[in-house]
Amino acid sequence: MFVCHIALQGCLTLTDVPYGITADTGGHIKYLLELAETSALDPEIDRIDIVTRGFEDSAFSDEFAPGSGEIRGDIRLVRLADGYEGYLTKEELHEQHEALCKAFLDYLKSCPKLPDIIHAHYADAGVLARAAFEELGIPYVFTAHSLGAVKRQANGTTSAELERRIEIEERVLEKASGIISSSRDEAEAQYAHYSKIESGRIRVIPPGCDLERFKNAPVSDKVRSDVARFLCDLEKPIILAIARPVRKKNLVALVEAYAAHSELRERANLVIVAGCRSQLSELEQECREVIEELIAAVETHDLYGHVAYPKSHEPSDIPAYYALARESGGVFVNPALNEPFGLTLLEAAASHLPVVATDSGGPNDIIERCKNGVLVRPTDRSAIADACFSIMTDRRSWIRYASAGGDAASAYDWQAHCRIYHRLLNDLVSPLQKVPSWGRLLVCDIDNTLLGDREALREFLRWQTENSENIALGIATGRSFHSAQAILAAEGVPNPDVIISGVGTAIHWYDRERRYFVEDEAWKAGLARDWDHERVHDVATRLNLRSQALLEQKVGKASFFTGELSTDEIRAAFDKEGLAVEIIASHGRYLDILPRGGGKQAAVVHAAARLGLTQSRVVVAGDSGNDRSMLVACPHPVIVGNWSDGLGEDPALSHAFVASKTHAAGVLEGVRHYQAAGSW
Ligand code: GLC
Ligand code: MG
Repeated sequence: MFVCHIALQGCLTLTDVPYGITADTGGHIKYLLELAETSALDPEIDRIDIVTRGFEDSAFSDEFAPGSGEIRGDIRLVRLADGYEGYLTKEELHEQHEALCKAFLDYLKSCPKLPDIIHAHYADAGVLARAAFEELGIPYVFTAHSLGAVKRQANGTTSAELERRIEIEERVLEKASGIISSSRDEAEAQYAHYSKIESGRIRVIPPGCDLERFKNAPVSDKVRSDVARFLCDLEKPIILAIARPVRKKNLVALVEAYAAHSELRERANLVIVAGCRSQLSELEQECREVIEELIAAVETHDLYGHVAYPKSHEPSDIPAYYALARESGGVFVNPALNEPFGLTLLEAAASHLPVVATDSGGPNDIIERCKNGVLVRPTDRSAIADACFSIMTDRRSWIRYASAGGDAASAYDWQAHCRIYHRLLNDLVSPLQKVPSWGRLLVCDIDNTLLGDREALREFLRWQTENSENIALGIATGRSFHSAQAILAAEGVPNPDVIISGVGTAIHWYDRERRYFVEDEAWKAGLARDWDHERVHDVATRLNLRSQALLEQKVGKASFFTGELSTDEIRAAFDKEGLAVEIIASHGRYLDILPRGGGKQAAVVHAAARLGLTQSRVVVAGDSGNDRSMLVACPHPVIVGNWSDGLGEDPALSHAFVASKTHAAGVLEGVRHYQAAGSW
C-alpha cells in the first residue's frame, strides 16, 4: 500500500526536526514521524510520502526550500512550491490553500502510481486531501491534532479567524473516510461540536508514548534531598503532582483539597513539581500567579513541613520523582480542569504508581484501559482528597493499581497503533464485500465475556470467521461505542456487524459499502423520547449517588458508582418521583439508571428485528449484572463460566446454558450446545 501523509505546518524534516523553532513546529510533527517510522516497518506498506510546504525564508536555513526532498528508508519527504517564498504560520496558511491544492495535484499526477490513501494532519492538509478525493477519487483519513471548536470553547469567545478555521475543519470532515482521534474525549465530546461528522467515522487509536525510562527507574539522591528540604517526615507516603503552573492544571485546588482533609494531612506529604523557576518575577504572569497562590495556600493552612514545591529539576529527575512517590506508597494526582491526553498518567502507570485523575479528557481512556487508579471530578476537592486517602490506606487496592500500570507501555505503543491503523486503511481501500443475508445472530458482551482470555478469543475468532456469512456477530456492552470499538480493535477482533453500546443506548451497524459504522437513527430517536436527563440526575444528586465521568452519561443512561443504598431503595426513590427507570448494578461497582424497559435486551430485540430474525434465531452471551436483562429475555442465553452478580444462580435464568469454560471459550461452548441440541 502507498500512503501519502500531508502536514503543511511548521518546519518539517525527516531527521533532527528543529522542534520549537516556530510555534507550529511541535507535537503533530513528532506524532507523524513516529507513526510513519513504525508504519514503514510493515511489509504491506511499500511506500510512504510525507508532503509539506516548502519555503525559502531568510529567517530559516535553505533546507526547507520547495523541491528539496528528503528520503529515509521507505519514507520520502516532498516539499511543495506554492508560489510564495516566505514561511507561513498556521493562521496564514489559508491564503495559499488554492495554490497548495494545485501543487499537490500536480505532484500526485507526477507519481508513477497514485497513493492508495491519503492521511491529512490538521485541517489545512485536509483541504488538499479533499481536493485529491474530488479530483482523483483517492480516499483520505484525517487527524485533527487540535480543533478550532475546542479552542473556541476554552476561550469562551470567538474570532473571524477561528470561525474560518472551524468552517475549514467541517469541510474536511465532511468527505473524510475515517477520522483518527487519540482519545474518547476527542471522539465523543470534542467532535460533538461539529455537524458534518457522524460518530461511526471516528476511530479512537491511542498514539505511542515512550515510557521506557519510567520502567524500574530508581530514586535519586538528588530528588530525595530536593524534597527533604521541605518535609518534616520523609517516611510518609507522597501525593505527587507534576504539571506546569497554569490555571487549568488546577494545582492550587489540590493544595486546598489536601489542607481540608485532616487525616490525609496527617498521613501523607504533598509534593508538587510545577516547572522550573529561578526568580518568581521572571515567570510569565499566569505561572507566577499560580505559584504565588500555591505558596499562599501553604501559608494560610500552615502546611509547612508537609508540602514540597521544589524550585527546579532536570528532565532526567522526573522518573525519580515517580519512583520516590511509589517507594513511599503514595499516589500520583492529575487534577487538571481538562487534560487533553494525560501523558503524566501513563508515566505514573509505567512507574507503577497508582493515580487519581481528572475525569475530563484523555484520562478516561487511560484509566479504562490500564485500570491503574480512579477518576474524580476536578472541581470536587473532597473527592480528590478522599480518592488519594482511600488508595493510600487500602493496601490491596494500592497494589492492584500499581501493578495494573505495567500494561500502559504495551497499550500506548506505535506498533499496537499501526496494527489497528493499517487494518483501518485496508478496510478503506479493499474491494467492496457483499452483505450476507444472515440467518442467525450471536450477541456477546465484551468485558469478561468475549475478552479476558486471549487464547480463547483466538479460537472463538477462528470459528466466527468460518461462520461469518451465516451468523451475524453483535456486541452488547456497557462501554461507549468508541471505547468498544477501540478495545475490540486492540484485541484483534474484526469489525462486528452490529455494536450495541452504553448498555443499550446506541446501536451502530457496520455498513460494508460505506466501510464504517452507521448509527441506528430510529433507535436513537426512540431513546430520546423516553428520557428526562435533568430529572434523573436531580434525583440521583438528592440520593447522593457518586457520579461516573461525564463521558459515561448518555441519553438514556445515567451512570454512578454503587454506594450505601440498595438498588431497591434507589428504584423506590425514582418511583416516588414518577420516573420509570431500571436500576442496574454490576460488578459490585457500577450502577446504571436506564429508562424502564431499556437496556441491552430492548436493543437486541430491535437489532434482531431489523435483520428480520425472530428471537429464536438469537443467542446472547454475558457474564454480569448489565447482561441480565438480555439473558433473561432471550430463549438461548449463554452465561460464561466466570459469571458474577449472581447470574449463574438466578432462578430467572434457569433456562440459560451456564458454560463450564470461561470468557470466549464459554461463549463457544454455549453456541455449540445450542447447535448440537438443534435449537439454533
Ligand atoms: C461500562 C461503562 C459504565 C457502566 C458499566 C456497567 O464500564 O463504561 O458506564 O456503568 O459498563 O454497565
Ligand atoms: Mg461483562
